[in-house]
Amino acid sequence: MPSTKDQLTKYEKIEAFVKGFKLSTLTYKRVMTLLNSEMKSGLTKQTNHVADIKMFPTFVRSLPDGTEKGEFLALDLGGTNFRVLLVKLHGSDVEIESKTYLIPQRIMLGTGKQLFDHIADCIGKFVKDHNIQGQKLPLGFTFSFPCKQEDLAAARLSKWTKGFRCEGVVGENICHLLHEALKRRTNCDVEIIAVVNDAVGTLMSAAHSDRNCEIGLILGTGCNACYMEDLDNVGLWEAADDDHPQQVIINTEWGAFGDNGCLDFIRTEYDRELDTYSINPGKQIMEKMISGMYMGEIVRLVLERLTMEGLLLHGADRECLLFERGKFYTKYVSEIESDHDEFFANTKQVLEELGIENFTTEDCKIVKYVCTLVSARAAFLAAAGLATLINKIGRKEMTIAVDGSLYRFHPRFHNLMCLKIQELIRPGQKFKLALSHDGSGKGAALVAAVAMRLRNIKGLKDVEVAA
Ligand code: BGC
Repeated sequence: MPSTKDQLTKYEKIEAFVKGFKLSTLTYKRVMTLLNSEMKSGLTKQTNHVADIKMFPTFVRSLPDGTEKGEFLALDLGGTNFRVLLVKLHGSDVEIESKTYLIPQRIMLGTGKQLFDHIADCIGKFVKDHNIQGQKLPLGFTFSFPCKQEDLAAARLSKWTKGFRCEGVVGENICHLLHEALKRRTNCDVEIIAVVNDAVGTLMSAAHSDRNCEIGLILGTGCNACYMEDLDNVGLWEAADDDHPQQVIINTEWGAFGDNGCLDFIRTEYDRELDTYSINPGKQIMEKMISGMYMGEIVRLVLERLTMEGLLLHGADRECLLFERGKFYTKYVSEIESDHDEFFANTKQVLEELGIENFTTEDCKIVKYVCTLVSARAAFLAAAGLATLINKIGRKEMTIAVDGSLYRFHPRFHNLMCLKIQELIRPGQKFKLALSHDGSGKGAALVAAVAMRLRNIKGLKDVEVAA
């Protein structure tokens, strides 16, 4: 506690600059009500075209049953890296070999042709290095952007998110673009069986061993959730009746929640500034308050403000990285919050990396405090989103599969989310947050494998009918 009057006013002043991050449970409940009604309008045919949350039906209708077998190629595109994987499924056993390739920023902001050519080149190299050139491998493609799915293997990009803005891709079928690029750049032969979102892959991957899994959540560079919905509630579902289960995974794309201004009552001046300088102003408002691509920058904006106000880091030179956009990485937030004693070893190291000299222990304390406020708001908003889905699904017990760097590396995210979800769901409902392993790789291969299993069953039935 501050001892002198001066310090007291200093802390009061700091509070005034950060109080917008402290939201009451009642406010989170209001967020849930809004989210619920936005999701409803996304699911309803008549309102979907104006809805921000698109609630895309994915054509994934069956979860794995653990008997899936075979060799698959999987691709994972969604962050700053691109991964190619060779996934070998032997029932509940899974073997994965993978290689990660960097996507340079000039490609993320270039043309679609450059992007898909780059991807094709990486696949070509991978296939050659793994000596699988001659085989026609089935492929599952994790493409972690909002897509309107027309079939399991046909998806049109609805908009770019995160750091991507490649020209000429919005509105296009990305499987077609991949095929064309593979033809242009390689002589690999693949059959694209499925294109999936990373949230869907995460749910599939966890459902492989946990039948109670109903929701998939990504807390990484971006933020998104998907869940299993009854077809009766999906106004957009138009496919003919068949003997698949009467359900489908919905890719909510809830990152866009708030794009119509409905979350303005909780946005802070820092959220607005971050948005203004982003590559997609006005878009992905909820994602910008939660995910790893933005959290560090929100913290930086607060620290910059406090420093300019003379409340923090008196020794900081105006030329240091604290005053440069994008230089306070989200991994710093996790590192700083992992300091558990008065030595602040991680916090000091981060401040040094930013080129700040002459900081005090009190500075470290305040920096850590700002990190905890920004990350707790993110965790609580994600919890409010999950609680909305848990209440909507209404089952007594369920597992939520989670993946993403923010969830994996932040020391308190899991616990904070559990506490808040418990507060927000109906009494008596039980839930478990389970880390899903390699949803983007294994998950995509599993979606492809389930599709092939079902295709084979149908093939057998057709033969029986014909005979
Ligand atoms: C994308 C989602 C994706 C999420 C997590 C968001 O920006 O719109 O499709 O699931 O990031 O990667």
